[in-house]
Amino acid sequence: MDRKLGIAILGTGDVSSGHIAAYQRNPLVEIRAILSRDAARASAKARQFGLENCRAYTSLDALLKSDGIDAVSICTPHHLHVEQGVACAQAGKHMIVEKPVALDLPGLRKLDAAVREHGVRSVVSFVLRWNPLFEMIRAILADGLIGKLFHAEVDYLHGITQSISLYSWVTRRAYGGTALLTGGCHAVDALRWFVGKEAVEVFGFANFSEGNPLGYEYEPNSVTLVRFEDGTMGKVATSIECVGPYTFPIVLMGNGGTIRDNRLFTSRWPGQTGWAVIPSILPDSGAVTHHPFNAQMDHFIDCIISGRESHCNVADAVKTHEICLASEQARLTGSPVRLPLQ
Ligand SMILES: NC(=O)c1ccc[n+]([C@@H]2O[C@H](COP(=O)([O-])OP(=O)(O)OC[C@H]3O[C@@H](n4cnc5c(N)ncnc54)[C@H](OP(=O)(O)O)[C@@H]3O)[C@@H](O)[C@H]2O)c1
Repeated sequence: MDRKLGIAILGTGDVSSGHIAAYQRNPLVEIRAILSRDAARASAKARQFGLENCRAYTSLDALLKSDGIDAVSICTPHHLHVEQGVACAQAGKHMIVEKPVALDLPGLRKLDAAVREHGVRSVVSFVLRWNPLFEMIRAILADGLIGKLFHAEVDYLHGITQSISLYSWVTRRAYGGTALLTGGCHAVDALRWFVGKEAVEVFGFANFSEGNPLGYEYEPNSVTLVRFEDGTMGKVATSIECVGPYTFPIVLMGNGGTIRDNRLFTSRWPGQTGWAVIPSILPDSGAVTHHPFNAQMDHFIDCIISGRESHCNVADAVKTHEICLASEQARLTGSPVRLPLQ
């Protein structure tokens, strides 16, 4: 590369700070544009991070027509991701799209089609794929230390309260969608990432706790059951109103051992009498500053420069989102839903 890639950031909220800080560490890119509904807010964000060659925009169209932009980070509320992602693809821009990428099936299909048609690289921000514990668990599974999986559970238990910036809009159905789309999709994605098979059938339940204290317009709690093609069973519990610290529990059982978060028991090690605890960085915080955005952005830039597709692109994220949408469909109809969705 004889020149830096130009990056544009859409949105000036909490997660945009994580994206900006991660790009700033990468010597191959420069942040050149920030989109906001208020130009002063975009300029303030640029000043906050010391971005010297960065313009403020209030129009996505104008931003996409400007010179020097190669890739875009979509850090706006969920309901804008399809429209903005399609516009970026049509303008030939590579993109990182924050999760969820869409709130319904037509939107999901539209974004997927646009990214395919225009041949741009995409990464969906399932940032936990770069969490060190995730990488360790994938290595343990690849080494066969717990044998053949038959049962997998990953939960997303994160009370999204007034202290979190997106609370101001995410409690509304038109903006948040469902608890799974808002947050539980991280756990659904992790379930798929660990099981490594196609999901074929989904069922779901959801509820409000008594009094709905956080005022969600949709059920903030759900349980999703997934059957994979090889018979492996999966479960995802989601709560975005739970009372307690953020947790992201992982249980993987195979015919030769079990993983519980960073604890391992394996029949491969004769004489093991209890859990082996493997020190690591766990996915135990909802704070954007804790998320491994540096590794995610480096991966994105590498995909652009090398021209290779990400394992975490929009086409892959379609499968995670289909499970989320199927869970809601199943609970509303009372019948299991087959995948892929028609
Ligand atoms: N991957 C992860 O781990 C992770 C973590 C956190 C968030 N996220 C995702 O990132 C997205 C943004 O979340 P966030 O926490 O950054 O939210 P946020 O703090 O509320 O920021 C969203 C930004 O979008 C812009 N915006 C444009 N239209 C808006 C509208 N109608 N209402 C509100 N804001 C609007 C706003 O910037 P202006 O006011 O300047 O226009 C706002 O600052 C969400 O989809 C969320 O799910 C992902």
